[in-house]
Amino acid sequence: MRKQIAAANWKMNLTYQQAEKLIDDLLALPHQLNDNQQAIFAVPFPYLQMVANRLAGKQNVFVAAQNCSNKKSGAYTGETSLEILQSIGVNHVVIGHSERREYFNENNQLLAEKVDICLSNNATPIFCCGEPLSVREANEQDAFVAKQLQESLYHLSAEDIQKVVIAYEPIWAIGTGKTATSQQAQDIQAFIRKQIATQYNDAVANNISILYGGSVKASNAKEIFSQADVDGGLVGGASLIAEEFNTIINSLK
Ligand code: 13P
Repeated sequence: MRKQIAAANWKMNLTYQQAEKLIDDLLALPHQLNDNQQAIFAVPFPYLQMVANRLAGKQNVFVAAQNCSNKKSGAYTGETSLEILQSIGVNHVVIGHSERREYFNENNQLLAEKVDICLSNNATPIFCCGEPLSVREANEQDAFVAKQLQESLYHLSAEDIQKVVIAYEPIWAIGTGKTATSQQAQDIQAFIRKQIATQYNDAVANNISILYGGSVKASNAKEIFSQADVDGGLVGGASLIAEEFNTIINSLK
């Protein structure tokens, strides 16, 4: 059965001391994750070890990197390989966030390579997709997202694609306070699942967690997560406030 996941994306925020306080505050708040639910914290590279240490021994809670290199190792100054991440206990990686696509020119082909490097090392890629406002206004979001999936994921075997977590994040809803309606999220996420079912089969599609991201907050998480094809959220701004993110964890199905 697919997992329900509350994933925090801290992006390039917080000092080390603020990060320590945030994770400590959050862990002190009451939340319960059953074996079908997970909380994941995608934090800046220098904080991975600290957060991993804080989460050690806790069930269904994981630390994630916000990116990794498509290369295995070598002379790539400033890059961080999956091997480096795994050597400090990091086995989840956000791949292809729209901010990386936009500001660092990451394209579908490069992201396919990053997904491959994760899967070949038994790490979980949290693969982001989603359309810009102009595409939504032209009502072409389905085709846009289908192409992202096609070019970055559909080379995978049926077994491997089930190890990918997909995060649908409409760019126009990221950090804007403008959330997709729960119906908009449901519609496109049902479409994504249907596409995967067509490409593979129903069982594969039903096994894949599809998260929604874009201005998820404590006040709207329950409504969004209640949708049949929304298996939790990838949360930016609201994940920087312990009480907010804790409520979001507690809003998982
Ligand atoms: P916000 O929750 O701040 O809109 O960010 C969403 C996001 O980009 C998570 O990856």
